[in-house]
Amino acid sequence: MDASIAQRQRVSSGAATTSTPDIRVVQLGPGIGAEVKGVDIAAGVDEKAFARVRHALDAHSVVILRDQDITPAQQTAFAQRLGDLRVSFYNRYAVPNQPELSVVSNIKQDGVAIGIEDAGMLWHTDGSYLKTPDMYTVLYGIEIPHRDGKPLGNTLFTSAWGAYESLSDSMKARLAGLRAVHSFVHHLDKKASLGKLKRAPLTEKQKAELPDVDHPIVRTHPLTGRLGLFVTEGHTKEIVGMPGEEGDALLNELWTHLKNPAFIYTHTWRKGDLIVWDNCAVHHLAVFDYGDIPRRLHRAGLLGPVPV
Ligand SMILES: [Fe+2]
Repeated sequence: MDASIAQRQRVSSGAATTSTPDIRVVQLGPGIGAEVKGVDIAAGVDEKAFARVRHALDAHSVVILRDQDITPAQQTAFAQRLGDLRVSFYNRYAVPNQPELSVVSNIKQDGVAIGIEDAGMLWHTDGSYLKTPDMYTVLYGIEIPHRDGKPLGNTLFTSAWGAYESLSDSMKARLAGLRAVHSFVHHLDKKASLGKLKRAPLTEKQKAELPDVDHPIVRTHPLTGRLGLFVTEGHTKEIVGMPGEEGDALLNELWTHLKNPAFIYTHTWRKGDLIVWDNCAVHHLAVFDYGDIPRRLHRAGLLGPVPV
């Protein structure tokens, strides 16, 4: 799982660099991750340009548009071109007058957090604990922390389809038809047990609104048809029908496999970066290495289908 796998992923995702007269797509990572150059959201994105972004998203699963200078309304309008937006149940962290956008931040005003402080501390895909998880996420970097001139707070992405395709035939056969339980309550409990929880516990009403759900361990992408691993360290609680040590061992084996650097693209943020990622194709992880140095991003989530 090494150079040959990375090479296969590069081949499967198409050419390293493609272009139209005004837009260039530059591959950044091993099968996932590409920068789309030549798109200025504030100036307007015509249908042809937007189609290039969508095509890059299907091909590379994570797309970066750099040097954007946009308002919350412009981020929302751009994200809405990908589908229907989810209004987060964490609406106390919504951007003012923009309920489709959530604030992700460690900043406090008068001692009160202005945004979600602990988002992404464990590998996950957005909304996997819901019956219909998020299809895409659109995250915009407004304030990026630095130390000694070095940007902090990277986001890591791993390829669910790259990881699946590199499994042995016997493991693929073992996983066929299996389902796993995803749980937001389990997620917060796990964070708390690791000493990483930085938000108020869920109310009983919120818990009742977020029952555990189960999804296939091998997911078929609704657009590309690629098969991808769909178990995450952050939210997957157990394998249906395989509780206890056997299930835990299998989950740990898959999580370890997903963390192989051969599948990972690490994004180093710059102010003005807008990242769109495909939650059906990648899992992600936030790096918390900036302490109290201010960091602020705005996130939008797009509604997705029931995983199959
Ligand atoms: Fe996330």
